[in-house]
Amino acid sequence: MRQHGTWQGDGIFYGADYNPEQWPEEVWAEDVALMRRAGVDLVSVGIFSWALLEPTPGRYEFGWLDRALDVLHDGGINVDLATATASPPPWLAHRHPETLPRTADGTVLWPGGRQAYCPSSPVFRERSLALVEAVAGRYAEHPAVVMWHISNELGCHNVHCYCDVSAEAFRRWLRERYGDLDTLNAAWGTTFWSQRYDDWAEINPPRSAPTFANPTQQLDFLRFSSDEQRAQLRAEREVLARLVRQPVTTNFMIGTGIKYLDYHSWASDVDVVSNDHYLTAADPLSHLGLALAADHTRGVAGGDPWLLMEHSTSAVNWQPRNVAKAPGQLRRNSLAHVARGADGVLFFQWRASRAGAEKFHSALVPHAGPDTKVFREVCQLGADLKALAEVRGSRVDAEVAILFDWEAWWGVELDSHPSVDVTYADRLRALHGALWRAGVTTDVVHPSADLSGYQLVLVPTLYLVRDADAEALRRYVDGGGTALVTYFSGIVDEHDHIRLGGYPGAFRDLLGVRTEEFFPLREGERVRLDDGATADVWTEWLHPEGAEVLASYADGPLPGVAALTRHRVGRGTAWYVGTRLDEAATDRLVARLLAEAGARPPVAAPTGVEVVRRRAGDRSWLFVINHTDAEVRLDVTGTELLGGARCTGELRVPAGEVAVVREGHVGAVPLARPTATA
Ligand code: GAL
Repeated sequence: MRQHGTWQGDGIFYGADYNPEQWPEEVWAEDVALMRRAGVDLVSVGIFSWALLEPTPGRYEFGWLDRALDVLHDGGINVDLATATASPPPWLAHRHPETLPRTADGTVLWPGGRQAYCPSSPVFRERSLALVEAVAGRYAEHPAVVMWHISNELGCHNVHCYCDVSAEAFRRWLRERYGDLDTLNAAWGTTFWSQRYDDWAEINPPRSAPTFANPTQQLDFLRFSSDEQRAQLRAEREVLARLVRQPVTTNFMIGTGIKYLDYHSWASDVDVVSNDHYLTAADPLSHLGLALAADHTRGVAGGDPWLLMEHSTSAVNWQPRNVAKAPGQLRRNSLAHVARGADGVLFFQWRASRAGAEKFHSALVPHAGPDTKVFREVCQLGADLKALAEVRGSRVDAEVAILFDWEAWWGVELDSHPSVDVTYADRLRALHGALWRAGVTTDVVHPSADLSGYQLVLVPTLYLVRDADAEALRRYVDGGGTALVTYFSGIVDEHDHIRLGGYPGAFRDLLGVRTEEFFPLREGERVRLDDGATADVWTEWLHPEGAEVLASYADGPLPGVAALTRHRVGRGTAWYVGTRLDEAATDRLVARLLAEAGARPPVAAPTGVEVVRRRAGDRSWLFVINHTDAEVRLDVTGTELLGGARCTGELRVPAGEVAVVREGHVGAVPLARPTATA
């Protein structure tokens, strides 16, 4: 595994994607002057420049990029230089139409947007690596370049290709995985519906079929597709490894609903874990989604600091209603990412485009120019990040973990299941949201992660689980841990085969329960529990087998049947919830679990005030983000870094504002002053 070593500069990186090629060169000097005014010190350059860098096959034109990098370097701006392979030029598909991706029903996806290439195409691979070689060879020693940016959001638009080239690659991948056809037939359960394969050539991707495709075929195709994207990342990295010495990254898309890339397996391929995050504008509580995405990115990074490669200063262009950010929201969003482990805050993009599909996407420099709310907030944020330089390299304190596995997500949302209302993100968000409201910071980690440091581990909808991971959870509880498992977990093994003997299969003994039958609810149907909670979506006929019953159904299809249980195992406890509790009941359950496990918020704060602690050795910093519309006063002692004020036992944070306190005694300071803000 590559170490996520030191890649940071002197402080928290600040910047954006910068596309100088979209502007006349006269604008570049103004760009650099404005970057300096804003405190920007890192820009990603060349992301979508392939067609300009290689206008015809094999003929490279680097002049404009030479000049752009020099202008940036002269201005003291560092560059995260793209390998520029994100989107091929039109000539590639024109000369090699077989590089175009196809959907499951055979539709060709044509150029004219971006990323129109088959991820398994050997032609694409060869041409893209030639470009990486040329770019890296030319700029390896350029003094502006501090980082390399492979491709861009690999698999964002082309993760699944069903063309003949992909079919061939899928067969190779399957041979590698299974060795022989008997093993594949057993793993795929092909005795069902006359699906037995007699020749590798008979196997295809799960193309459009008359009815449900084989679920293990679907699952393996999803694994294969994630691996094919990863293979491009690794192939580019190998070229870079020969030619450059700067750290290498690529931007992940954790927490924006992108489902099909298994980033836990990719993290070891980069020196810097980077993530892109965009708010769901329609969601008034979008800062909860942001916190979850950041906690998950940190989990993927193994707890190390990571880089926020993209977010937006205000509206995006690709949602149905692109709500602008309210004054102050940009700052809260950015500093929430830093609170949760980001050591750099970058945006898409520096200057709002005049042309193209993203011309209504916000930027650091809006169409209206720098005399704007957005640019003023951009400058304020630059000053804030400067003041937080000392936080760089510190790690986030978290006593609670939520287990997350992309394969479980893929598995649980396959077709022909008991209820379409059981989705992976649902309980993940519900439990993370309850912890957020309780003020408790959570790491979102893979089930194979080391759990020993956590007071509490939550396991939402882990439908597919490997034996070793189920066993690791048992050992964690046995050794004194507290765990909660939610319904439809532990159901299948890695081949999507049911674990027999009663649900929840892999977790039955740990939880001390056995479910004999699922009773999913009708759309909109609600049941009541005898502890006053309500629930919907799911119930199940559960028998306690050693577990204590904490609540049972009061009505619905299973009156009197246990819904919430607790089982003592060794020195710990394993809780199970067999239904989809409402939000208030989920909050109460999480509060009970936190109390039992002894996990607490960093400091007591009212709901809606986000408090996270970062720590390095014996130094610590407390981030306080007030999402409410009232001033809060917290019991904090230290030096507030954004306004420079000291506080002894009282920190005031006005409505909508942010404070970051270097904790510790600050001598005889009589009074806390209100936090200075923009
Ligand atoms: C990202 C992408 C950027 C830009 C941005 C718009 O997915 O990496 O290039 O398209 O979205 O929000």
